[in-house]
Amino acid sequence: MLNNRTILITGAGQGIGRGTAEAAFDAGARLILTDLNLEAIEATARLIDPEGDRTLAIAADVTDKAAVAAAVERGVERFRRLDGLVNNAGVLAMGSALHSPARDLDRQLAVNVQGVATCCRIAARQMITQGGDDGQDRGGAIVNVASNAGKVGYPNMAGYNASKAAVISLTRSLAAEWAEHGINVNAVCPGGVETPMLGEVAAWIAQRTGDDPGELLATMTPAQLGRHIQPIEVGRVIVFLLSTQADIIRGQAINVDGGDTPY
Ligand SMILES: NC(=O)c1ccc[n+]([C@@H]2O[C@H](COP(=O)([O-])OP(=O)(O)OC[C@H]3O[C@@H](n4cnc5c(N)ncnc54)[C@H](O)[C@@H]3O)[C@@H](O)[C@H]2O)c1
Repeated sequence: MLNNRTILITGAGQGIGRGTAEAAFDAGARLILTDLNLEAIEATARLIDPEGDRTLAIAADVTDKAAVAAAVERGVERFRRLDGLVNNAGVLAMGSALHSPARDLDRQLAVNVQGVATCCRIAARQMITQGGDDGQDRGGAIVNVASNAGKVGYPNMAGYNASKAAVISLTRSLAAEWAEHGINVNAVCPGGVETPMLGEVAAWIAQRTGDDPGELLATMTPAQLGRHIQPIEVGRVIVFLLSTQADIIRGQAINVDGGDTPY
């Protein structure tokens, strides 16, 4: 589905980012893997592509414009094009709306919103510049990893909820603005995915309720599914949205939370 396509994934060192890297690699893509943590993305690269033929691991903080631009530049040097971007890197700071420090909201907006906007802008400029040279399709595709928390208000997540709602809104705006450049922009809204982040949420709640964190985590599953979602399952939906088969889906925020969110 993504043969000969070059895709940049942010936050690819673990969780949904790593699962997306696996799914995109299986679909034939060449991958620029980025994260704060270089060792983690090198481990992702070794796991999915032991030969190293179709992966390039580059440390980049999504809040650092120069680092993101350098990652795109190095990726294009190696693979000649950029056809897709997955804005997966994100942070969650649990805390009550009454007492959370302002810096928690700042950090979530910086990574989850500014980071996404920065990566979108830098990637789109590359996609527009490269046009349809070398006979390939012009434009490209962007998938932003929002959250069902961008649609539903969860307690102790007000800042995160707001940041993910902003990602959904940004997705609609960019889809409308960049359609003329052949760039398709969509979002996915996960929930209940078995990753370190979900473990941290369970640990935070358990510390306050006295529950066992492992037992609590085991209950944090989508009701209709009755189990956690695995990162690669989200990755496969992202792969579809990156492909030309999803050309008729534009500016949408697709729930990938096992049916928990009905809208
Ligand atoms: N796990 C879930 O159930 C769930 C649900 C809804 C949405 N999400 C979203 O999915 C995405 C991935 O979540 P996850 O559960 O895999 O999280 P995770 O915390 O397990 O992994 C996030 C990765 O992003 C990287 N990262 C964090 N800040 C970064 C930055 N500034 N620059 C570059 N990389 C950075 C981390 O190093 C880490 O490798 C996030 O955007 C998250 O909000 C997750």
